[in-house]
Amino acid sequence: MDEIRRYLDAARSIAALTGAGISAESGIPTFRGLGGLWHQHRPEDLATPQAFARDPLLVWQWYDWRRNLIARARPNPGHFALAEIERRYPFTLITQNVDGLHDLAGSRHLLKVHGDIWTLRCSSCGRERHDPRPNIPDLPPRCTCGALERPGVVWFGESLPADTWRRAEQAARHADLFLVIGTSAAVYPAAGLVDLAKSAGARVIEINIEKTAISPIVDISLRGPAAQILPEIAA
Ligand code: OAD
Repeated sequence: MDEIRRYLDAARSIAALTGAGISAESGIPTFRGLGGLWHQHRPEDLATPQAFARDPLLVWQWYDWRRNLIARARPNPGHFALAEIERRYPFTLITQNVDGLHDLAGSRHLLKVHGDIWTLRCSSCGRERHDPRPNIPDLPPRCTCGALERPGVVWFGESLPADTWRRAEQAARHADLFLVIGTSAAVYPAAGLVDLAKSAGARVIEINIEKTAISPIVDISLRGPAAQILPEIAA
């Protein structure tokens, strides 16, 4: 830990990439781990533009169930530790999570590369609106233009939001310390940020309860729950 704190103090630019694992201890299921969502559901039925075109109600029922679950979750000490790191260091937080728990913990330099489950976007005119209700009445919701609204998240086969992604790449390229927290690093292009940071010279530290696809290339692997390790780093 002392070594890692020295890296933090010496760094001119720090970035972190988080995934579902950081919210696991807030009670939100991950996608690929034990009890993960993609063991119970097929992504192609629920998280693709084709699934939405085929059965918007089914897709919305699943997102509404997740919104309800997430609405009851609170940030855990891992989220709060990252907000604290942001207050003390030059830091950019890149998240694949759509749950909004980093916002609730106080993170502001936050790039949501997979969107936000609390945003609704019109499938026709593109108008976006924030809707914090845990359940949306009258599914599937409609825009004022009459077309169906969709969850404001990135689905499989879709591009990431261009400006957010450009800034995420920039943060990875400029970081001299890059933290990879609670992600299986299995989904691209987000996982590619680790290679980008590493090849641009960053020291890469992984925090995960398990070995992942990127474990062989990182400089330090910290095995354990993010909610325990991150507060130790930020202490
Ligand atoms: P995954 O479910 O693929 O991976 C979660 C990771 O968190 C695993 O490596 C776990 O070992 C780790 N983990 C679990 N509990 C942990 C804890 N308490 N502390 C630290 N690590 C823990 O989730 P992501 O990598 O986020 O995309 O998945 C990436 C993307 O795939 C998601 O954003 C989503 C999904 O399909 C879209 O929906 C587009």
